[in-house]
Amino acid sequence: MLDSYGRIIDYLRISVTDRCNMRCVYCMPEDGIPKLDHCDILTYDEIIRTVRIMSGTGIRKIKITGGEPLVRKGVTGLIGELKSIPGIEQVTITTNGTLLEENLEALVRAGVDGINVSIDSLDQKNYAAVTRKDLLADALRGLGAALEAGLNVKINCVPVSPDEDILALAELARDNPLQVRFIEIMPLGEGKRFPLRSEDELTELLVSRFGPVLSAGPVAGNGPAKYVTFEGFRGNIGFISAISHKFCSSCNRLRLTADGYIKTCLQFDTGCFLRPLLRDGSEDGLIRDTIVRAVYEKPRCHEFAPGGGNGDVRLMSQIGG
Ligand code: 5AD
Ligand code: SF4
Repeated sequence: MLDSYGRIIDYLRISVTDRCNMRCVYCMPEDGIPKLDHCDILTYDEIIRTVRIMSGTGIRKIKITGGEPLVRKGVTGLIGELKSIPGIEQVTITTNGTLLEENLEALVRAGVDGINVSIDSLDQKNYAAVTRKDLLADALRGLGAALEAGLNVKINCVPVSPDEDILALAELARDNPLQVRFIEIMPLGEGKRFPLRSEDELTELLVSRFGPVLSAGPVAGNGPAKYVTFEGFRGNIGFISAISHKFCSSCNRLRLTADGYIKTCLQFDTGCFLRPLLRDGSEDGLIRDTIVRAVYEKPRCHEFAPGGGNGDVRLMSQIGG
């Protein structure tokens, strides 16, 4: 699909649930958020139909997200189904890792192409402070199991912990063949309460510990991360810097929310609501045309200001991270 700015849209992030077993401070309020009713969440059959239609319009890569996708029963089966749709080349998942170990075998069997594990600190106390759950050991077991299975693993870190924690996470990329990616916090929802730690600031911190920045070899991925490495590293460090280095001009993505809305930009409510069409007997052609029209209207860029957060949208857990 092409939008009106000539961007090729081939990547869809699917949020399969708005629920999560953690409560990260920048993502959710302590008491959680009002949950979607089960009947308002797309069924797996509805998701599969949507992806089948969208693969016909050029969607090639899928990311399964949440909330925490592994809290929804049967999600590994969904991944297997999506993998078998003609035209879908890659299905990956983003998870907090705490339920990964028990799901790993099924994920491998489903043919998952990569796993992003969100870990913001390797210090048990600091991890619990960020996530409001004492589950670091579970996440690390999940991470270890994924590495052992030889999967393509990336670690995502929103840098809200002390510098020492950031450096310790970076050391994972020194000692393992994986990517550790630092994500600039997006000022939406609870994220507005946290200061931006910019790519430049983190680079300076990393250089002070690991020496000069070296360029990284090519890294498989779907989008905006920029990779570097350091002397003696087996893996790479990535930066996803939506605020300090806006990447909207090369944005290739759409989001499908758990309740069936196609969002064409993280910031704005532009898009189309597919759920009613999926449930009122509409034909595939109408659904496809509705999506193509919405994609054409994809906004040129977000207008988040650092720390500001103008333009209200739903929380990250409701739109798939
Ligand atoms: N800004 C940036 N990243 C966020 N995430 C959740 N909320 C925000 C935010 N406000 C991240 C999680 C996870 C990914 C799915 O989204 O930490 O790594
Ligand atoms: Fe859950 Fe991810 Fe939100 Fe943390 S950031 S509360 S793990 S959805």
